[in-house]
Amino acid sequence: MRVVLKLGGSLLYDESGKVMIDRIREYAESIRTHVKDGLTMVIVVGGGRPAREFISAARELGASEAQCDWLGIKLARNNAELLSAALRSLAYPRIVEDLDELEVAATSAKVVLMGGLIPGQSTNAVAAVAAETIGADMLLNATNVDGVYDRDPKKDGAVKLDSVDIEELRAILSGGGTRAGEYRLFDPVAIKIVARSKIPTVIFDGRKAANLSRALDGEKLGTRITYGGKSR
Ligand code: UTP
Repeated sequence: MRVVLKLGGSLLYDESGKVMIDRIREYAESIRTHVKDGLTMVIVVGGGRPAREFISAARELGASEAQCDWLGIKLARNNAELLSAALRSLAYPRIVEDLDELEVAATSAKVVLMGGLIPGQSTNAVAAVAAETIGADMLLNATNVDGVYDRDPKKDGAVKLDSVDIEELRAILSGGGTRAGEYRLFDPVAIKIVARSKIPTVIFDGRKAANLSRALDGEKLGTRITYGGKSR
């Protein structure tokens, strides 16, 4: 089985901005176990707090949005290096920076790591296009909320959805930010790609590394994206 995992960058840092070494180790152990069982994984790591901090400082200093995006891209790659360190020789030795390299890497390694790719999108779009490229059976999105809500989760009466149709998701997320560092859960590029290839996608709470195994085992958790009312 081939799986793409998007690991939200916010999962790697605690509230004071320190790297959560133990959580990264836990993820690496879980990945190691599943790879031993025959899984091939492409893991796309997000930019998290360092990306937000660098982007807002650069913007204040006069950087263009494209320059800010590039900072996010590079910082996401740095975060991927942290997971790569924990995975040691299990991971393809470079953080993959383009889709041609991904195709080659995915045929030679069981675990391939990526960060950002190009300006104007988030690492969720990277994960979606990586899933298309390798023909992934599943796209798992580990984030810092327990799933998709029918409206802003901070609003009264917000309900977590066990499944959401792609068109409903598009509507819920419309109006999200389009500036560097501000793309919402699924940016428009990510939505377009999962929709056109009907990629089986689950968004789940990644604050517990154990949830990765639960998601891989097909347990119901988080929110599953459906296409035309059905999951593929
Ligand atoms: P993300 O916003 O995807 O990081 O990338 P994240 O940490 O995963 O976000 P959360 O925690 O899940 O919310 C960081 C920034 O890098 C740039 C964007 O500016 C993005 O906001 N980026 C990333 C790109 O421009 N292109 C890419 O392909 C990826």
